[in-house]
Amino acid sequence: MLEQDIERVLFTEQELKDRVAEIAAQIDKDYAGKEPMLISVLRGSFIFMADLVRSITLPCTVDFMAVSSYGSGTTSSGQVKITKDLSESIEGRDIIVVEDILDSGNTLSYLFQLLQARHPASVRLCTLLDKPSRRTKAVTADYTGFTVDDLFVVGYGLDYAEKYRNLPYIGILKPAVYEKG
Ligand code: PRP
Repeated sequence: MLEQDIERVLFTEQELKDRVAEIAAQIDKDYAGKEPMLISVLRGSFIFMADLVRSITLPCTVDFMAVSSYGSGTTSSGQVKITKDLSESIEGRDIIVVEDILDSGNTLSYLFQLLQARHPASVRLCTLLDKPSRRTKAVTADYTGFTVDDLFVVGYGLDYAEKYRNLPYIGILKPAVYEKG
């Protein structure tokens, strides 16, 4: 069972639901009259993305990119690799990049440069979690679900060694789990 590896629940299903609805309402307001394109950065953001788009009432489109930076460890390697590119052109579009977590900023600073070079009308960042204490690159989010301390969080899309993504809440992983590797 995955549950037994969780030290404590940080954000319950209900807390996540409520916060996602608030962010969606803000996006509806900010993009009124526009048709934003939401780009989910796989894999971690797939659940947040799915809930967020269903709360947005504006017409919008979705696309997906896969980026790999962490390997299976607990810290960023600093290497960013695009493993799946977008299917659509973003030229002239209002882009909202949807992430599960903003940590060092390494992935997003790389991604923003890459997206800007394709001439979108605008690019904003929406992240469910932000760990500002870990930042090494100057990246700030336009929409943030929750600011968190430097804890090892899993669930609601976030993994450790590709597991725990299917937990419906966000929890703190017991150190014994990653200490044994
Ligand atoms: C996570 C997250 C971001 C990145 C943030 O992805 O989804 O893309 O790390 O870290 P950074 O700010 O230090 O760059 P991860 O590489 O764990 O892949 P995943 O989305 O497949 O879980």
